[in-house]
Amino acid sequence: MRILVLGGTVFFGRAIARQALAAGHDVTCAARGTSGDPVDGARFVTVDRADPDGLRAVEGTFDAVVDVARKPSHVRHAVAGLAGRVGHYTFVSTCSVYADTATPDQTVATAPLLPAAEPDFDDPAASPEAYGRCKVTCEELVREGFADAFINRAGLIVGPEDQTGRFDYWVARHARGGEILTPGDPDDRVQLVDARDLADWTLRAAEEGLTGTFDGIGAPMTRRDFHAGLQAGTGGDGTLTWVSQDFLTAHDVEPWFGPRSLPFWLLVPEFAGFLTHDTTPALAAGLRPRPLAETAADTLAAFGDVRHTTGLTEDEEVALLREWHAR
Ligand SMILES: NC(=O)c1ccc[n+]([C@@H]2O[C@H](COP(=O)([O-])OP(=O)(O)OC[C@H]3O[C@@H](n4cnc5c(N)ncnc54)[C@H](OP(=O)(O)O)[C@@H]3O)[C@@H](O)[C@H]2O)c1
Repeated sequence: MRILVLGGTVFFGRAIARQALAAGHDVTCAARGTSGDPVDGARFVTVDRADPDGLRAVEGTFDAVVDVARKPSHVRHAVAGLAGRVGHYTFVSTCSVYADTATPDQTVATAPLLPAAEPDFDDPAASPEAYGRCKVTCEELVREGFADAFINRAGLIVGPEDQTGRFDYWVARHARGGEILTPGDPDDRVQLVDARDLADWTLRAAEEGLTGTFDGIGAPMTRRDFHAGLQAGTGGDGTLTWVSQDFLTAHDVEPWFGPRSLPFWLLVPEFAGFLTHDTTPALAAGLRPRPLAETAADTLAAFGDVRHTTGLTEDEEVALLREWHAR
């Protein structure tokens, strides 16, 4: 197949391009080239999607396109610029399009959506809600142009080349061993997908003509199983100390992401539904998540010289554990 990746210079776009090439497809990536490099073997076309005619430089027809855009204007330009010369359209969306973050086990069919962004609003980086609302608009624009699109609402994507450091924090932490501060309750659940599994499913969706809207994420797992998978994958021999949400919030530890945070940790009950979607439909439609231990091992092997800035520092973790034991 001739596949066009709109993006392809970072994490997930690169995974798509790499795996499409490995499967024998002819791959073109189109981006500015400012975020990173395309993978070897892919044809690269320099485009700026902020320009309404920016995709003019991408010539010819394609059997499939994979679009990772966040800005409605970029999607608007792509849908117009590719009309009549693309077969299957995958839009990589996000579970951040959902309005209800509290209710567990929602599905695409039951979960209410955020309202679309205001007309001409085009700044997904403004806030988490702006990101979700822009993606709702992007989905609508894709469906208007390509009624048979595959809308793949990705959940938390992890694995080698993830630049957020969220998953890497835990991989590094388990690899280091010792006493590990783990947040919340062992029975709380989390959910993720390895970029390579999401890419594999996206490519098969294009090959097989899968259409419709799905949550692209693996089944939820308990935090206990999450840490067991990390331990198995990294070979770490740390001991887990579970520290309550109340203690962590009282000590200014941030959830989710960033400095002095515990990545992957979300407040309950407000976010009890954010990483607990029922993805039975995606699994039935061909998404095949690999064991977490494999993702952890490969992520660790790919670390290289990357320095991670998200999560607790070693000193912060030691101080918090000391206070937790002394309380
Ligand atoms: N990471 C997660 O956990 C997560 C979770 C849910 C959903 N998602 C979704 O998954 C996808 C991730 O994609 P990704 O990993 O490839 O990262 P990304 O950061 O979304 O990549 C954006 C791509 O678009 C290109 N781009 C940006 N501005 C452009 C412009 N003006 N003109 C042309 N190209 C432009 C970038 O390349 P240049 O800068 O080089 O132009 C880059 O290749 C996104 O759709 C995201 O919303 C991610």
